[in-house]
Amino acid sequence: MHRRTIEYEVINAYNLFDPCQTALLFPNQARHSRRFIVVDGNVDALYGQSIRAYFHHHGITAKIFTFPSGEENKTLEHYLSIARALDSFPIHRRDEPVIAIGGGVLTDVAAFVASTYRRSVPHIKVPTTLMGYIDAAIGIKNGINFNGNKNRLGAFEPPQRVLLDRSFLKSLPRRHILNGVAEIIKLAIIKDPGLFDMLEMHGAPSVLNSFQDEPGGALLDRAIGGMLEELEPNLYEDELARKVDFGHTFSYGLETHHEAHLLHGEAVLLDILLSCLIARERGLLSPEENARIFTLTFGLGYELDTCLLDPHLLLESLEERTYHRNGLQRVPLPHGIGGCVFANDIQPSEVENAHQNLIHEMVKKNERVY
Ligand SMILES: NC(=O)c1ccc[n+]([C@@H]2O[C@H](COP(=O)([O-])OP(=O)(O)OC[C@H]3O[C@@H](n4cnc5c(N)ncnc54)[C@H](O)[C@@H]3O)[C@@H](O)[C@H]2O)c1
Repeated sequence: MHRRTIEYEVINAYNLFDPCQTALLFPNQARHSRRFIVVDGNVDALYGQSIRAYFHHHGITAKIFTFPSGEENKTLEHYLSIARALDSFPIHRRDEPVIAIGGGVLTDVAAFVASTYRRSVPHIKVPTTLMGYIDAAIGIKNGINFNGNKNRLGAFEPPQRVLLDRSFLKSLPRRHILNGVAEIIKLAIIKDPGLFDMLEMHGAPSVLNSFQDEPGGALLDRAIGGMLEELEPNLYEDELARKVDFGHTFSYGLETHHEAHLLHGEAVLLDILLSCLIARERGLLSPEENARIFTLTFGLGYELDTCLLDPHLLLESLEERTYHRNGLQRVPLPHGIGGCVFANDIQPSEVENAHQNLIHEMVKKNERVY
């Protein structure tokens, strides 16, 4: 049991690089102080000038390390290249935090470097993707892929601050917006029927305008509130039955095997739909509730490739996650929209059946127009 008191701030801060904004200067605003900043390559191309101008304006010496984007770069080699660059730029190890600006890959790698460099220096996370905004950046986990396994090396280390600026989402490609929306759908189904209603009402237009309007902002605030509510009492995952693992059982195998084809959120969404079909067969979801979930999902514009769904891979993934969860499946299944139960007895035949039913749903979808 971890007894350390953890405190960090998750703050909404629009237009972070406006010179009047001071959220990024925490905790040391003194001119001539230093910052080591790791920035995703695509984000650097889009916002690098504003980032440099911002720190220059505040008289802060900023060393910008540009990190090549993509899951394939979440490696030990890239971890080491950041660590080497950090080691050659001596920051004050208590009040000059490392700043990570980018998607979930970047914040995971940069936070892992900060967590391990000199036995941990503080770090600030600035998510620039919806996946980072809703999930990857707001918790305390970080890491890199290793030995063919996702996130096999990493740490639980709280950031000093997380700064949420949804103006970054304006430049995010639609596929990556939908990638993050999968984590919102997850929360809505497993714990928050009000969020589900909001998604039904405002989800599709919010995707189209990249969450820049007010219903979209309120939707994001509610999803983040829900995520933090789940994470806070269980930051170190002492409790292994976690609602936030809904959609994270079969997805592990899918995204590990199809890294080039599937984004994390896309794999999570396929898992959510399979899990809902298992729940329907168990009488945990009514056919009407199940239909609402499929109508919502398909109406948002996902392009899902069911050819990637191989029942053997799904069962292997269930086995791997059972090992990861200390020998029990602990698979979160929806119980009505907004409720959750944990299953420890999912049978191979149920997974195979759900796989067939999902293919059937996709065929029906392709015959309809949304
Ligand atoms: N630590 C956690 O708790 C946690 C939780 C969920 C996911 N994750 C991790 O997050 C990673 C996925 O994160 P992701 O989906 O953000 O992927 P990503 O970091 O690869 O970013 C996706 C793409 O968007 C680009 N991009 C980033 N911001 C942009 C912007 N504002 N405008 C235009 N392009 C932009 C990036 O360059 C990249 O090409 C996975 O490695 C996953 O394991 C971690």
